[in-house]
Amino acid sequence: MDVEKIRKDFPFLDEKKVGKKVIYFDSAATSQKPYSVIKAVDEYYKYSNANPHRGTHYLGWKATEAYENTREKIKNFINAQRAEEIVFTRNATESLNLLAYSYGLENIKKGDEILITILEHHANLVPWQMVAKKTGATLKYAYLKDDLGLDYEDLERKITEKTKIVAFTASSNVTGELTDVKRIIKASKKVGAITIVDACQLAPHKKIDVKDLDCDFIAFSGHKLFSPLGIGVLYGKYELLDQMVPYNMGGDMIEYVHEQDTKFAKPPTRFEAGTQNVGGVVGLGAAIDYIESIGIEEIFNHEHELASLAYELIKDIENIKVFYPKNSNVGSVVSFTFEDIHPHDVATILDSKSIAVRSGHHCAMPLHEYLGVSSTCRASFSVFNTKEEVEYFANQLKNVRKVMGL
Ligand code: ALA
Repeated sequence: MDVEKIRKDFPFLDEKKVGKKVIYFDSAATSQKPYSVIKAVDEYYKYSNANPHRGTHYLGWKATEAYENTREKIKNFINAQRAEEIVFTRNATESLNLLAYSYGLENIKKGDEILITILEHHANLVPWQMVAKKTGATLKYAYLKDDLGLDYEDLERKITEKTKIVAFTASSNVTGELTDVKRIIKASKKVGAITIVDACQLAPHKKIDVKDLDCDFIAFSGHKLFSPLGIGVLYGKYELLDQMVPYNMGGDMIEYVHEQDTKFAKPPTRFEAGTQNVGGVVGLGAAIDYIESIGIEEIFNHEHELASLAYELIKDIENIKVFYPKNSNVGSVVSFTFEDIHPHDVATILDSKSIAVRSGHHCAMPLHEYLGVSSTCRASFSVFNTKEEVEYFANQLKNVRKVMGL
């Protein structure tokens, strides 16, 4: 993979236009956007903009085509059975809320159990707390082993005849672990539980094949995979989507509306009420083209190499604690903290050296509580990052203690 060539695809690396050099290690929060995605969105608004599924005029057809062609592209990207299994949402959070309301509240009863893992970020945790509280179900957690890898035996023990939903991350946004999705799905299916995979941190890095995984639902955001903000995807097996009630009501999601009654449209339209974010959908399509033009395997190998290098270079710094499950498959993030320096101070010092890392709880407070820290710093890598950037980062991190006067 030619990283120098790839770097030319990203406008944020133009120091003059941005105002300063940025070493962007925060792609797990949101990805930077390549020119091709920005151009696709720009051209859509210039030459194809109208409200899809509505006007019978030329631009209306163009907008509808742009919208539906991307649905087909995503179907192929994740190897779904049919395009009708792809629902456009605002982001993974909305996809997971849709499931909590349209599936969870409708199907979960008192005494049932919902199983998640302690690795979940709030998007795949707070909605299930809500479902458990409203229905009287129990929310259970699978925890980690001492080496910080997910404890699969604990998870499997916690799947019982009462388990109705198993919702879990395919890749932790804090430890970086790539979970064994197939193993969890297999164990869940033994008791007939519905499986929900949060693929926010996986979709930008690894090939997802929903047929091979045999998962019931998958959620991911576009903005983490080079597309604009405000567009997300929910995949669901068609027969499940078809049994679900809509989450939002309004225009386009109906077949007939009478004064007192409505017949809802078939999926996916049933779940896409109101005017949709066609520009975002077009951008997501261009982002998928961009990923495929490089090759998702190549992207993953590069990012994983950078994460492993970062771990090796920083793990022995005085008083550092790196939350890296080295016995598990790990993706492209490394989280760490110092025993005696607040992560916000570390991030501020790194920022003064042009390095952007995230500091805080990364929308995963229960995980941080479980790890016994209030927050961490996280470096997350993408296709445009280089080994030299990682080495520079490690050297700057070694200096942080000195800067703090320690
Ligand atoms: N969930 C996103 C992150 O990990 C926002 O930073």
